[in-house]
Amino acid sequence: MAPFFEFPPDFVWGCATAAYQIEGATDEDGRGASIWDTFCDKAGAIRDGDTGRIACDHYHRWREDLDIMSGLGIRAYRFSVSWPRVFPSGSGTLNEKGIGFYDRLVDGLLERNIRPFLTCYHWDLPQACEDRGGWRVRETPEAFAEYCGTLAARLGDRVTDWFTINELWCAWWLGYVDGIHAPGAREPERVHRQVCHNMLLGHGLAVRAIRAGAPRPVRVGIVPNPGFAIPFTEGRDDVDFARAEFERGQGAQFGPLFRGAYPAGLLEEWGSNAPVIAPGDMAAISEPTDFVGLNYYSSPQVASAAWGVRDVEPWYPRTDFPWAVVPEVLYWGTRFMHELYGPREIVIAENGCCFPDRLNAEGRVEDYARVGFLRGYLAALHRAVTEGIPVTGYFYWSLMDNFEWQYGFAKRFGLVHVDYDTLARTPKASALWYSRLIAANGF
Ligand code: FCB
Repeated sequence: MAPFFEFPPDFVWGCATAAYQIEGATDEDGRGASIWDTFCDKAGAIRDGDTGRIACDHYHRWREDLDIMSGLGIRAYRFSVSWPRVFPSGSGTLNEKGIGFYDRLVDGLLERNIRPFLTCYHWDLPQACEDRGGWRVRETPEAFAEYCGTLAARLGDRVTDWFTINELWCAWWLGYVDGIHAPGAREPERVHRQVCHNMLLGHGLAVRAIRAGAPRPVRVGIVPNPGFAIPFTEGRDDVDFARAEFERGQGAQFGPLFRGAYPAGLLEEWGSNAPVIAPGDMAAISEPTDFVGLNYYSSPQVASAAWGVRDVEPWYPRTDFPWAVVPEVLYWGTRFMHELYGPREIVIAENGCCFPDRLNAEGRVEDYARVGFLRGYLAALHRAVTEGIPVTGYFYWSLMDNFEWQYGFAKRFGLVHVDYDTLARTPKASALWYSRLIAANGF
């Protein structure tokens, strides 16, 4: 019998992680330092002084982690490569032991019939690059492209799906404006606008380098996390208004990426703080891509043509993060993206929730709230698919509890519980539910 919410037969069900959040082994096999190693050592930067030094010890336990995924029937795995593991000084000499780890990981995935989706940059810039100016200087996007081209040459025979940069907005704003993420900078506008432009350029140069480096045709895209207000009603006025707000809010990123230009008037508005744009930059940034990965967790606001934009109501349920539970983001977020920018294909590259999950006396984690979260969000995603929006996959964040950036290990997003004393892994109730959903291709 067909499930109530049935997905298309080839829909990709996966889960996601990122190198710094799970790998640990930060000093092993020739890995160079990353900006996150440095940032974690700053007093007060991370809750409880946690660091990624051991994290989930995935670097040593990856076989077990792949076996867990395979046991759950997970079909795709989005992971990221640690740039400083592969190029300890950012560019130049390749670290064979570093690339060797990902080589074995990819083989291990394919042996278990799990499709790899590789993210080249999930925020762990080599410290050596930061010491030379980081994303403030053009040398970094160029080094990034070299690194991505090398990854494609070495892994592109087996990895078909490539993402360049994860959540450029966070890497830029949280890292170089707010300073709450590595490298912890608070740059003046003139500098941080250049950082953002250079990251966009890094993406574009990487798209070309990955295609040129891979020994066969591969698929490449970026993973943004557009924040936006959901329409208050489905009335045409509210929807048009919310869509226009989405476009306005994302213009500085999506104009260059999908239309080859900053929105009219924006550079003038920035005046002397506008980034330096070299000839050819806009063509590189807007290099056509094969798909886009979208990370949607919540929406802070609601939009109405009648009264503008408001914060979501205080009675929306919350998770263990300051984020409200707003399942509709998966519908409106994919629909607006499709209507405004028409990417060839969309995958939800991250979506998930955190709760203070604990093992009970029987050794189980009964995270039924996560199952409830998933049911709501996936129903909204199902609607998008049914209406013909080209969404082809969904990746739950995250496979397992991990190092949640400035929150350290205090926030648990995983389908699999990790005990940070023993590093034991225990699939939660939600993992079993997700496994059944995959088997039934719906729920
Ligand atoms: C996203 C990040 C990911 C994780 C989740 C909770 O912003 O891409 O690494 O921290 O949030």
